[in-house]
Amino acid sequence: MHVRRIVLSAAALLMCLCAYRANGAAEEAGDARPLAETKKVLVAYFSHTGNTRVVAEQIHQAAGGDIFEILSEKPYPADYNACVEQARQELDSGYLPPLKTKIEDIRPYDLIFIGYPNWWSTFPAPVRAFLSENDLSGKTVVPFCTHGGGGMGRSVTDISKLCPNSPMLEGIAIPGSDVRNAQDTVREWLRRNRITK
Ligand SMILES: Cc1cc2nc3c(=O)[nH]c(=O)nc-3n(C[C@H](O)[C@H](O)[C@H](O)COP(=O)(O)O)c2cc1C
Repeated sequence: MHVRRIVLSAAALLMCLCAYRANGAAEEAGDARPLAETKKVLVAYFSHTGNTRVVAEQIHQAAGGDIFEILSEKPYPADYNACVEQARQELDSGYLPPLKTKIEDIRPYDLIFIGYPNWWSTFPAPVRAFLSENDLSGKTVVPFCTHGGGGMGRSVTDISKLCPNSPMLEGIAIPGSDVRNAQDTVREWLRRNRITK
């Protein structure tokens, strides 16, 4: 009687161990799959003079998903100094410009790239408006920017203030003058973040 009980217990233990190992293996296999294959990707970006658009397209080409341009209803002045001055005022006042483009439904996306030029060490007001209008809670955010020497500035900290419930992956900052040759750098960064293979 005793022996039978011991044999049954051993069999049950063995089954549990097998199930545990199978789960572990599935999890490992899941972990190995790049994020772009398991998550719905959105590449959202703002670009005034086109540099950030180039990088957004490189990311889109490598990671797939959908691409979305954040456009302000009122375009920024083409004159550099006027644009710099307007950007400074908007930053100081926390202005949220009305956006010309709206994302129809953000809910299905779970891996969201946010791209922008570095303006005054952070992101331009239309990006602030986009992040304020759309609830990115629980979605993984991946920042990227182009710049004139200041890198990401404090933009990553500023994004986490607006998206406190969004895990963030390592971002990338590409000098505006390098964007056309940045495809390999972008691909390497995506692989490092386990977004692509
Ligand atoms: C209003 C304004 C402010 C800028 N401020 C900075 C800055 O603080 N640091 C920096 O490195 N570059 C700065 N730049 C340079 C841009 O970040 C750079 O040219 C960028 O690549 C432009 O991207 P875009 O072509 O997508 O608009 C500024 C440019 C503008 C127009």
